[in-house]
Amino acid sequence: MNALHLSTPSGGEIDNETLFAKIADDLYAKGYSIQPNALPMTLAEDLLEELHSSEELEFKTAGIGRGRDLTTNEFVRTDKICWIQGTNDTCSRWLEWTGALQSYLNRRLFLGLFSFESHFAHYRPGDFYKRHVDAFKGNTNRVLSLVTYLNTDWGIDDGGEMVLYQKDDDFSGTKVTPGLGTVAIFLSEEFPHEVLASRRDRYSIAGWFRVNNSLNGQLDPPK
Ligand code: OGA
Ligand code: MN
Repeated sequence: MNALHLSTPSGGEIDNETLFAKIADDLYAKGYSIQPNALPMTLAEDLLEELHSSEELEFKTAGIGRGRDLTTNEFVRTDKICWIQGTNDTCSRWLEWTGALQSYLNRRLFLGLFSFESHFAHYRPGDFYKRHVDAFKGNTNRVLSLVTYLNTDWGIDDGGEMVLYQKDDDFSGTKVTPGLGTVAIFLSEEFPHEVLASRRDRYSIAGWFRVNNSLNGQLDPPK
């Protein structure tokens, strides 16, 4: 990390408490929040570097479902992913940041968020992820989805937006440009969404806060 790049609130970067308060207000009012320039810039830059350095070895074609139900389906999604573990400084800082958000939301909204899992994703030009929901009622303990973007200088012609829909609305979604540091966060069961094909390589992190639903003494679903 380069100390010269450390931003302070006076340097134009929003501080965490102010940001988390805005996210909580939005979640309470409408179930989702989209915040440009939300992730601390040094963290965003370091995460992109981390993504690039693990890419050669670790990225796999993304699947659908979990555990033994995991399948790949190139008609639904074509991105490549790599799960994030807190095994180095950058990933630990990411998990600290999401952990701080988790405790803030638990305090403000009593969500009972218990854990967080996340993966890097790389969409090559033309890659997409068709409309889907991240969680089905009763089927999963994913409560809140969080996506953040690691792309510098994303242009309006580059495509690759995430489109967030209201449940019964197929057409007028909210488009999220995947620019560096933008954070999108939404209730996992409530908002179908898709990733439109982009014209350049597109890097993101998708993550889920989970509650601890124990069924017959077994964690549901097993990780
Ligand atoms: C996902 C997802 C959105 C994005 O991985 O489930 O919806 O913009 N990602 O990368
Ligand atoms: Mn999704």
